[in-house]
Amino acid sequence: MSTAAPTATNALQVTDPRTGKQYSLPIQDGAIRAADLRQIKTGPEDFGLMAYDPAFLNTASCRSKITYIDGDKGVLEYRGYPIDELAEKSTHLEVAYLLLHGELPSKAQLAQWTHDVTYHTIVHANVGKLIEAFRYDAHPMGVLQSAVAALSTFYPDARDIKSPENRRLQMLRLIAKMPTIAAMAFRHRLGLPFVQPNNDLSYTGNFLSMLFRMTEAKYTPNPVIERALDVLFILHADHEQNCSTNAMRAVGSSHTDPFSAVSASIGALYGPLHGGANEEVLRMLAEIGSVKNIPDVIKQVKEGKRLLMGFGHRVYKNFDPRAKIIKKLAYEVFEVTGKNPLLDIAVELEKIALEDEYFVKRKLYPNVDFYSGLIYQALGFPFEMFTVLFAIPRTAGWLSQWEEMLNDGEQKIARPRQLFMGPAHRSYVEMARR
Ligand code: ACO
Repeated sequence: MSTAAPTATNALQVTDPRTGKQYSLPIQDGAIRAADLRQIKTGPEDFGLMAYDPAFLNTASCRSKITYIDGDKGVLEYRGYPIDELAEKSTHLEVAYLLLHGELPSKAQLAQWTHDVTYHTIVHANVGKLIEAFRYDAHPMGVLQSAVAALSTFYPDARDIKSPENRRLQMLRLIAKMPTIAAMAFRHRLGLPFVQPNNDLSYTGNFLSMLFRMTEAKYTPNPVIERALDVLFILHADHEQNCSTNAMRAVGSSHTDPFSAVSASIGALYGPLHGGANEEVLRMLAEIGSVKNIPDVIKQVKEGKRLLMGFGHRVYKNFDPRAKIIKKLAYEVFEVTGKNPLLDIAVELEKIALEDEYFVKRKLYPNVDFYSGLIYQALGFPFEMFTVLFAIPRTAGWLSQWEEMLNDGEQKIARPRQLFMGPAHRSYVEMARR
């Protein structure tokens, strides 16, 4: 971080044509401070210049040391470590530790961390009753969001967000209980009794057990599937200031408890333009039904009649490095589960889209959601579970960003400005005169 005093070369020289006045706005780390614009006024009554940036296209809302993305080069790094190395060599729990603590754990630290997370996997029996109260066909994202919000009532101590030890306890609870609640939401839809956590299994192994265990005395997860799910969790663990993380930071900035803030993030992730896209991709592939229908779909997309779900990204304009890893992983999983019949449609769709001028010009590439759903479906998950499988690992990212935000002395309650375009002051009109 540069701290040099502003000079002509590290400051933006601005002349306001309205007044002819000149201003020097310091540039630090490639940015000017939007608040520095406020000194640019036409007179004492003027509020000062603002930056108008709907959807935050060009606004940095924080300084962060967690996740680095170079969208033009297709680079994604957690705490400096490239995503492909982590996907190959690490585990989700280790990555969660890395995101939260900034460094990879030693062997002893990882053992302690794994123990601590494992210790908190069980939920209060009333959480089960709450989930049972949902309709049989309740969308599991809605169930997850509600159950996580409800956890704030089970752990009122979570409101003390000033204590680092207390924050750590709540973070452990959240990372530990997300798979438990997700599995309960899954089984509720099927009318199956809940399966208690088995703490002898890995994070994803235990999750698979809570999802799929039936009457067997001992459930042993398939190691290829257990590892594939763990890799998918690594790939989804954080992605800097995306929509749901921004929700986590914005809601958390009011100093609410982390269960309420994570619940808000789950709501943001649910949307089809964000995490909900993985579900939409599979619905789209199923609807396309056959390779021969692809040209028609591409035509509709180009006419602006529909989006190609799983394509495009606000940040990646070259390729999404996660999509590359997932595509390879899909073939490994299909060795065990058998090929997902929708794969051929996805591969052909990708091929045609990548050659088409519409997509090339707009730099639209497959994103993380394009192939993940194919794997989830092959693993036996219904469409509705796909975004839940995104929310579980992203919890580590949300919490890391929340922790960073709370420790950032520059942060305050998130509260954007607006440009008011409504009617000018006017008096109330009585009903009889309208
Ligand atoms: N299919 C067809 N056209 C698209 C798509 C798409 N999937 N995505 C973007 N475009 C077009 C837009 O219509 C626009 O065209 P125009 O310049 O002619 O108006 C241009 O590409 C730029 O797109 P924007 O909407 O400005 O890009 P933005 O950064 O706002 O949106 C987003 C990014 C939301 C991901 C978008 O690409 C999209 O809706 N994709 C489909 C949904 C999806 O896959 N979401 C998952 C994202 S990854 C994640 O959240 C985990």
